[in-house]
Amino acid sequence: MHEDLISRPMIMFGGKGGVGKTTCSAATALQLSSAGLNTLIVTSDTTPSLSDIFEEEIGDSIRSIEKRLDAVEISNEAILIKWKKKFGPDFYEILSHLIDVEGLDSESRHQLLDYIGSAPSLKEETMLDLILDLAETGKYDRIVWDTAPAGETLNLLNMPEYIRKHLSAGSRVFKGLDKIGKKIIGKRSIAQIMDEWIAASERISRYIHMRSAFILVASPEALVVKQARRVVEILRGYHITLHGMIINRVIKNPDSQSLMTLQTAQETYLADLINLANGLPVAMLPFSIKEIKGKKALKEAGEGLIEKLKLQE
Ligand SMILES: Nc1ncnc2c1ncn2[C@@H]1O[C@H](COP(=O)(O)OP(=O)(O)OP(=O)(O)O)[C@@H](O)[C@H]1O
Ligand SMILES: [Mg+2]
Repeated sequence: MHEDLISRPMIMFGGKGGVGKTTCSAATALQLSSAGLNTLIVTSDTTPSLSDIFEEEIGDSIRSIEKRLDAVEISNEAILIKWKKKFGPDFYEILSHLIDVEGLDSESRHQLLDYIGSAPSLKEETMLDLILDLAETGKYDRIVWDTAPAGETLNLLNMPEYIRKHLSAGSRVFKGLDKIGKKIIGKRSIAQIMDEWIAASERISRYIHMRSAFILVASPEALVVKQARRVVEILRGYHITLHGMIINRVIKNPDSQSLMTLQTAQETYLADLINLANGLPVAMLPFSIKEIKGKKALKEAGEGLIEKLKLQE
């Protein structure tokens, strides 16, 4: 087994928009489940295409789509429900000490919570929290996470740290308030609630750093190579493990002049990407004339993928 993948059950697929993340995640997840591993594929893309690629309705509650393979598309609604359940009451209480929430009618209060819950950082934090809950059910050997296009995901990976910093600042302020004996909510002080939030953020950060591995999906094109370099740089900055790379849409056996020209154009970019992988596992997925849709096509496309990526012995 490559590295310590057993201790890194979460496999994140990331890369530039449209590069083939969902296709590669789906193909990999099918190979993992065929190899006997209980696998969950989860997409956090706000416009998920997992259902289209599997040609099966998936939706935002977990469902089995194949032996040992479950799937779920995390929707904005699911994120909001989770947020309200987990953080909503605390947040509301804290807020009500800062502004006159009681003066609002019930509908406006709900709208206020919805508004806060949909703020980008809280939304992303909650989504990570949801994915972690799934990971920690203990039901799955592998969680394949089809992330949103590169930029957004990288922001998201930075989120626990970002939230922690902001909460720490808030926590200091509220500790100050506590000292003058003012704000106690229920049996807990505001500072305690803040500390619980920080702990929740740290749990996510720990999981991403210790138990997750990133697979970069790229294709041999100028812009994709450029972005791939950036992603590798950023991952390094966040100390997130880059496990390997899938190079998608590689032209093999061209049967026309235009495909031959394209193949020649791909050569330098292919070399650049292999160089960028710097010895980490690389798998190539050929350019397919036919759309890769449905489980049969995905299984064919994914043959040998987990061995090449060293996700399995
Ligand atoms: N190897 C391939 N050969 C031909 N077409 C492919 C290949 N891989 C993916 N595609 C097609 O390219 C399109 C984009 O693929 P996919 O949805 O997997 O990309 P994505 O990175 O998930 O996109 P997004 O960033 O929008 O989520 C799809 O229509 C898919 O069928
Ligand atoms: Mg996608």
